[in-house]
Amino acid sequence: MKRALVTGATGQDGIYLTRLLLDKGYEVYGFVRGQSNPRIPALLDNAPGVKILKGDLTDQPSIIRAIEASQPDEVYNLGAISYVAYSWETAHLTSDVTGKGVLNVLEAIRLAEGKDSGRIRFYQASSSEMFGKVQQIPQTESTLLWPRSPYGVAKAFGHHMTINYRESYGMHASSGILFNHESPFRGQEFVTRKITSAVARISLGLQHELRLGNFDAQRDWGFAGDYVQAMWLMLQQDEPDDYVVATGEMHSVRDLLDISFARVGIDNWDRYVVQDSSFLRPAEVDQLLGDASKAQSVLGWKRETGFQELVEMMVDSDLQFYSVKG
Ligand code: GDD
Repeated sequence: MKRALVTGATGQDGIYLTRLLLDKGYEVYGFVRGQSNPRIPALLDNAPGVKILKGDLTDQPSIIRAIEASQPDEVYNLGAISYVAYSWETAHLTSDVTGKGVLNVLEAIRLAEGKDSGRIRFYQASSSEMFGKVQQIPQTESTLLWPRSPYGVAKAFGHHMTINYRESYGMHASSGILFNHESPFRGQEFVTRKITSAVARISLGLQHELRLGNFDAQRDWGFAGDYVQAMWLMLQQDEPDDYVVATGEMHSVRDLLDISFARVGIDNWDRYVVQDSSFLRPAEVDQLLGDASKAQSVLGWKRETGFQELVEMMVDSDLQFYSVKG
């Protein structure tokens, strides 16, 4: 039986990945932060059988102990402060967790491997946010990074550190440059879920207004359930490498609003949606569009869920949730 250690196991991707690994027969350990993390019950409900190990990416001894306790064949580093807007308010903390946290995991693996380099396979959750002010359209694995937020800068550090440890020590360290990926498990702070939950609440008469920042931002939005397959595939390859994971389609925040409101039978969303400058960012990433040809040809990965299907899945899930919860 293979064993995996997943940091950030209580997040959206952590839940999908943990479930996927359990279904494949892995023994899965979730590395979870906090004294009484309120997200643990959701992880245990949705991925029964996962074993919880407590620790923090900024506390290296806790990572070393987690590796000792789990004896993993594969480590997936999904843990991060992941909300871009918040990273301006906590640039130091974001650098420590999202950036130096990666180094802490790499070093802990190197220590555990000793002379047997490459024995523990490592996945780093890199991000399309690293492309920031895009220098090429669409973005590939070799596009110049130009991050536009402390979060993007921290992810770029982790990305290069992963490549550096692979090249310096022969570690089996791979990086998935994932474009935005969403699901009903997405946090309410991100624009997709903020919109789908508000639309559900508006249609149920529980909310009357939705305040948003930049309506014109464009992203390459895919389904998280499809994207965790790519993570796993990367660690099944003989050679470690970097891969863009994306749909190759770009949509705007307006498109999200059109599809979400249409799903509940509202054609004209103007009367509910208000632009609020407090949600604008000090530096915006205007558009992201990924080219996942390498993941498709080398890993045999392809996305299954289209944009409209994804948004409607999220609206339906929120409708169900708020009909019960009120
Ligand atoms: N969150 C949020 N809230 N975003 C808004 C809003 C709002 O009210 N109004 C407009 N937006 C715009 C943001 O300015 C941004 O351009 C876009 O919607 C998407 O914002 P988020 O959903 O917060 O995601 P993100 O693109 O900043 O970051 C996500 O994707 C990255 C991959 O590119 C996060 O999941 C990151 O962790 C991930 O690395």
